[in-house]
Amino acid sequence: MNAKECLETRRSIRKYKSDAIPVDVLNEIVETAKYAPSWKNTQIARYHVVTNTEMKKKIANDCVCDFTFNTKTLLHAPAIVIVTYVTKRCGYERDGSFTTSKGDRWEMFNAGIAAQTFCLAAHEKGVGTCIMGIFDDAKIAEVLNLPENQIVGAVIAAGYPDETPEAPARKGADIILTRYE
Ligand SMILES: Cc1cc2nc3c(=O)[nH]c(=O)nc-3n(C[C@H](O)[C@H](O)[C@H](O)COP(=O)(O)O)c2cc1C
Repeated sequence: MNAKECLETRRSIRKYKSDAIPVDVLNEIVETAKYAPSWKNTQIARYHVVTNTEMKKKIANDCVCDFTFNTKTLLHAPAIVIVTYVTKRCGYERDGSFTTSKGDRWEMFNAGIAAQTFCLAAHEKGVGTCIMGIFDDAKIAEVLNLPENQIVGAVIAAGYPDETPEAPARKGADIILTRYE
């Protein structure tokens, strides 16, 4: 699969077969995702993969800010991937000050790149994913017992697809591209 095909055929998958993602496949996905770019190569993203049934239930039921649409997806996903980022590195100078006016928002920017890179690497291995933005990060941190210097950046449901959704419509280059010549 080339990059164009990978980008164009990846879809958000919300229905999964019950098959688990083998550990070696998961490792390969993360070994590919590690090539994501990061601020000064700080590599702040961490991937926490939850397959434990009780933990999955807690995340799906108690950590989605009552957005039950996500509960359904998460409960049936064989794996829930929590993308976290290590704080106070990305976007910071050595003395702890911010490098730019965006302050600490570069941390989430990097988490987003890491999440998408994970999803593309997963797609290449036939694993479907759905990035989710509606979650309670404090509650998830509690379920995972995360160290204080890691913050939840994204929740990703993952598993082998049991649906083949059409691509939702995209805006064309005529709208999203501005050229300055
Ligand atoms: C930051 C972000 C947050 C999202 N949050 C959710 C979510 O909470 N629940 C969900 O089902 N999909 C979520 N999505 C998936 C989008 O709905 C999806 O990417 C979009 O509709 C385009 O569809 P596609 O991914 O199949 O191309 C999210 C995607 C992104 C990038």
